[in-house]
Amino acid sequence: SGSSSGLQGAAGMVRKKLGNFVGFANLPDQVHRRSVRRGFQFTAMVVGESGLGKSTLINTLFENKLFDLEQRSRNAAPPPGTERGRTVGIESLSSDIEENGVKLRLTVVDTPGYGDFINNDDSWKPIVDNIEARFDAYLEQENRVNRAKLIDNRIHACIYFIQPTGHSLKPLDIEFMRRLHTKVNLIPVIAKADTLTDDEVTAFKRRILNDIHHHQIQIFQPPVYENEDEETIAENEEILSKVPFAIVGSDTVVSTADGRHVRGRAYPWGTIEVDNEGHCDFVKLRQMLIHTHMEELREHTNDVLYEGYRSEKLIAMGVNQDSSVFKEINPAAKQAEERKLHEAKLSKMEAEMKMVFQQKVQEKESKLKISEEELYARHKEMKDALDKQRMELEDKKRRIESGRPPTPDKSGTVSSVD
Ligand code: GTP
Repeated sequence: SGSSSGLQGAAGMVRKKLGNFVGFANLPDQVHRRSVRRGFQFTAMVVGESGLGKSTLINTLFENKLFDLEQRSRNAAPPPGTERGRTVGIESLSSDIEENGVKLRLTVVDTPGYGDFINNDDSWKPIVDNIEARFDAYLEQENRVNRAKLIDNRIHACIYFIQPTGHSLKPLDIEFMRRLHTKVNLIPVIAKADTLTDDEVTAFKRRILNDIHHHQIQIFQPPVYENEDEETIAENEEILSKVPFAIVGSDTVVSTADGRHVRGRAYPWGTIEVDNEGHCDFVKLRQMLIHTHMEELREHTNDVLYEGYRSEKLIAMGVNQDSSVFKEINPAAKQAEERKLHEAKLSKMEAEMKMVFQQKVQEKESKLKISEEELYARHKEMKDALDKQRMELEDKKRRIESGRPPTPDKSGTVSSVD
C-alpha cells in the first residue's frame, strides 16, 4: 500500500482490489459452526453530529448493497412519540444477507439529532436508554420458558464519529463515551479525515487517545492473545495501531491520475482512495468490523457488557424490591413481584386446605373417642355383671359340695339348683 502520505499523488499506488462481496463469509474462521448454520445477527450503531459522514460511511462499508440513501431518507421519519428536531431519534435499518451459505441479519442503527442542539447535555441519554432497552428485551427472552431461538437486537458495536477539529475531544464526546463505555463496544473514528493532513491526523489521534486514557474510557480494542499465530497477532497489532480510525467515506467512483476508477474523493491536488490503506484507515475499520472481529464484538457484548448490565440489574432488584417506581420501569422486577404474589397466594391456599383437613381429622378422632368410651363403658358394665354372676355361681357350687343347704339370699328366697 506504499506511502503513508494521504494527499500526495495517487500514481504508483498498488491498486487495492475491491471485494465484490461484503466479506463476512470469512466467518467460518471466526464463528462457531452452530451460529453459522443458524445464521446470526449483528447490529452496529452510528453516533455523531450530523454532516460528519455517517450515512456515507455505512454505504461505503457495505458497498451500497444494503442501505441506499434514498431508502434511508424515506425511513428517516421520526419514531412515533418523538418530535424530530427536539430529541435525539433512533432509526434502524435491517437487511438479511447471505454469502457462501452464511446468513447474516445486519442492522444499522442511526441516531439523528445527536449533538445538534444548543444544549446537548443529555444527548447521550436516549442512546443509553435505547441500548439498555435492547439488553432488557434480550433478558426478557432469556427468562422465558421456551428460549429456543433468542433474537439478539443488542448493539454489538457503536461507531462514534469525532469531528475533525485537530484539537482534542469535545466535552460532549467525553461525556458520551463515559456514559456508554460500559454498555457498548465503542469504536471512535475521526470523521472526514481527508480534511486533515497526515501530521494533523497523527497528532489528533495521540490527543484523542490521551483524553480517552485520562478519562478512563474503555474503547473496543482487538485483543492480542499470545497463543495465536504470528500472522493474527501482527494483524491485530496493526489494527490496534490505527485506533482511532481516520476515516474517509465516499459512495462515488472517481478516476485517479493513472486512469483507475476507485471509490474516493477527488481534489484538485489528487484523489483520496477510500480503499487504499495508505490514504485512510477505512480498510482497517472494515476489516475489524466485518472480517476479523465481528465474533469478538458479539462475544464481548454478550459476555462482558450484557453480563455486567444483567448482574447490576439483579443486584438492584434485590436492594430495591420494595420501590414501586423501580418496578414500574423494570419489567423483570415486576414479573418477579407478580410471581412472588402468586406463590404467596398458593401457599395461603395450601395452608387453608391443611387447616380444613386437620379440623375434619380432629372431628373424626373425637367422635371415635366418644364411641370408644361408650364401648368401653358398656364392656365394663357387661364384665361387671358377668363377674357378679360368676361369683354367685361359685358360691352356690361351694355350698352344694360341702353338703350344706343353700343359704337364703338377702331377699329371703331360696335358690335352687336343678
Ligand atoms: P446526517 O444524515 O445529517 O446525520 O449526516 P451524516 O453524518 O449521515 O453525513 P452524510 O453521510 O450525509 O454526509 C454529509 C456530507 O459530508 C455529504 O456531503 C458527504 O458527501 C460528505 N462526506 C461524507 N463523508 C466524507 C468524508 O469522509 N470526507 C469528506 N470530505 N466529506 C465527506
